[in-house]
Amino acid sequence: MAEPCKGRTRSRARLELQGILGFMTDVSSRADIATVVDKFYAKALQDSQIGFLFEGLDLRNHLPVIHDFWENIVFHRGNYRGGMMYKHLMLNADKPLKPEHFQRWLELFSATLDEHFAGENASAMKQFAHSIAKTIQARISQQNLLPLGTKNSP
Ligand code: HEM
Repeated sequence: MAEPCKGRTRSRARLELQGILGFMTDVSSRADIATVVDKFYAKALQDSQIGFLFEGLDLRNHLPVIHDFWENIVFHRGNYRGGMMYKHLMLNADKPLKPEHFQRWLELFSATLDEHFAGENASAMKQFAHSIAKTIQARISQQNLLPLGTKNSP
């Protein structure tokens, strides 16, 4: 795993270089993933449509998990242990997740990627996000059909 401080400095240097060269580079390290994820969460938390869904989240613990998740997807390494579906089903039981919430989530995620990176990995991240969002929504639709009292089960 990349050492966080050095990694972040490298990612910042990459962003500065992109500014000088006038073109975007691809997502190519855990530090780049952290840039995308952290900037996305900064937007999502403040967002008038989906911000309330993240209320009370402990970002110090949550963000490294999300870095692991994407590092696993993009670079096939990282320590993500799984269980994301269950977390979203629990969230939905508490605060119903609607199609327009997913649409906004995806809009913000893609916009964040487009602001900082371009290339195969950046495109793959957008595609994965769309397909995972579809899968979560499909499970949520099933969950919503269950009788009350059984909805918290994954
Ligand atoms: C409406 C859209 C979404 C909302 C509001 C949302 C919100 C959240 C929240 C509040 C959590 C923390 C849950 C907890 O720790 O109890 C979470 C966890 C997570 N979300 Fe989402 N999410 C959305 C869509 C997505 C999508 C599309 C992805 C993947 C591309 C994703 C990936 C994850 C992952 C990996 C976790 C961590 C689960 C864990 O702790 O293992 N989310 N999400």
